[in-house]
Formats: sequence, structure tokens, C-alpha cells
Amino acid sequence: MSHIPVLLHESLEGLAIQEGGVYVDCTTNRGGHSLEIAKALGKNGTLVCIDLDQVALEEAKNKLDALEDKPTIHYVHSNFRHLQAVLADLQIEKVNGVLADLGLSSQELDSSKRGFSFRFDEPLLMTFHASPSEDMTTAYDIVNTWNEESIADVLYGFADETYSRRIAKRIIDARQRGKIETTLQLVDIIASAVPADYRHKKTHFATKTFQALRMAVNDELGSIHDLISSLPHVLQVGGRAAIITFHSTEDRIVKKELRSLPESLTIINKKAIVPTDEELEHNPRARSAQLRIAEKI
Ligand SMILES: C[S@@+](CC[C@H](N)C(=O)[O-])C[C@H]1O[C@@H](n2cnc3c(N)ncnc32)[C@H](O)[C@@H]1O
Repeated sequence: MSHIPVLLHESLEGLAIQEGGVYVDCTTNRGGHSLEIAKALGKNGTLVCIDLDQVALEEAKNKLDALEDKPTIHYVHSNFRHLQAVLADLQIEKVNGVLADLGLSSQELDSSKRGFSFRFDEPLLMTFHASPSEDMTTAYDIVNTWNEESIADVLYGFADETYSRRIAKRIIDARQRGKIETTLQLVDIIASAVPADYRHKKTHFATKTFQALRMAVNDELGSIHDLISSLPHVLQVGGRAAIITFHSTEDRIVKKELRSLPESLTIINKKAIVPTDEELEHNPRARSAQLRIAEKI
């Protein structure tokens, strides 16, 4: 399924895009938000497009390069936690706005073959990097080498998984019989660990385990922390940051981190902005999205 940009109108409005300004899309993917930001910036603007997924970034480049009167666009294959260094390399001192649309895209979920979805039988990678190097931690490493307590802590700490301890125990038991190689092997282990009523809930019983492993593999909360800590240094006064999250753990962290810098950031929307019924009708995957906007003071 192709990725439909979430809260597109609301995030662009939240960023209060100024024609000719300098903006960063920290999570470019295939350029859904970037395309509209680029159009609003016009040829005198500058857009920095960051993503860890090199394949997606290439596709964004193809799309954005076809624009007429496009701004200067820099494509940077990096983690947004290095935003300050990325801008320093480009000799950009301050920016007018920063967008982060967290998590993963529909294509990454459905067809990256990196094991993000419990619906397809794939190797347990879960890295945002399209081709992870040998030294990167993968979901395979976590389920096959971490101890029971650490696995349980990941499942509970990153996704509030009620059955974290039972699932971690079953993972350790399964390891006695051989390596856990694929997503569907892991789904079977989770199924054997949780009670029957949990297996028949509306939300799939493997959702939280998969979310938690992905967050651990990519140190997602650490990256968000580093990104938000860099905002006071990279935004000019009056510059805005718009951050879209997809689940409660992430939103809690974003809210807490933004509030932790009261001397340099003010929160624009006291309550998170959520998709309208109309958006949800044509994009049900937007259902848990929440947008928070902050301004440099
Ligand atoms: C939800 S998608 C963005 C979709 C995009 N806004 C659009 O509408 O087309 C999130 C993207 O962020 C990237 N990503 C996640 N964490 C990242 C990080 N720490 N640094 C850079 N990119 C990251 C993922 O690879 C993915 O491409």
C-alpha cells in the first residue's frame, strides 16, 4: 500500500511555512510531506530531507526533483538525532522549521521485507536502515541473545505489554529448541504465551511486542530525545517544530521532552492535534496519529 501523508494540512499549517525559508523534514521517507513543504517554499527556499531509509530517500529525490521552481534541496541519509551535525555540515546555522513524522511508512510495514509486520513471514531485522550493517542490533539479536528480564523490560517499557514476562519466558524457552529466525516463528511464540481472550482482541496480540522490539532496535526514544534537545540550537526565534507520533508511549515522551525546555520552547497546541473524521475515512492508518507543535522563544 502506498503511504498517505498523515495530518498533512495540520502539520504544514502548524509549521507556518514561510516562502523562501529553511526547513527540515527529519523523516522524509518517499517525500509525502516534503513535496508539499517544497511547493510552499518556492525556489528561494531550502529544504533538508533526512531519512535512515536510503531506498525511500532516493524515491523522494525522484519525486521532488521533478518539481518546477523547487527550493534548494539537500538529501541526507542520517539519523535525525544528528540534526545539529547535519546542518553544520551543510553550513546552515538556523532553520525556520523542523518536521518529524515518527515511526515507519506503509511501504516499510508492508513490503520492506525487514520484519516490521506480524502479517508476513520475514527475517527479524526491524531496522529503519534499508540494508543494516553487521554491527547493527536487529530484532533477531534481541530475541536470540538478550536475557529474559531485559526482553520483558523492553516489551513492558516500550509498549506497556501486559504479558511481557510471560512472552519473554516463552522466547527463552523457544531458544532451547533453536534460533528464532522469522516473524511468524515469533508470532507463534507470543500466541503460546498469552491467554485465549487476548488472542481474540481487536488489536492483534503481537502488535505490542513488534512495536517494542522495533523501538529497541532503532533506539527510537533516544533518537527523539536527542532531536528535541537539539531544537533550541537549530531553530531561529519564532521557528517551529511539528512532531507526529503514532502511539501513546511515543506521544508521552514527545510531550515530556518538549515541556522540559520551557526557557527555549513554547508549546503551541496544549492538546495534541488528531486527524479529522474525513482523514480517517480515506486513511484508517492515521487513527492513532497525534501532532504536537512547539515554537522557539
Ligand atoms: C512515517 S514515515 C514518514 C512519512 C513521510 N512523512 C511521508 O508522509 O511520506 C517515517 C520515516 O522516518 C524514518 N525514520 C524513523 N526514525 C528515524 C530516525 N531516527 N532518523 C531518520 N529517519 C528516521 C523511517 O525510515 C521512515 O521513512
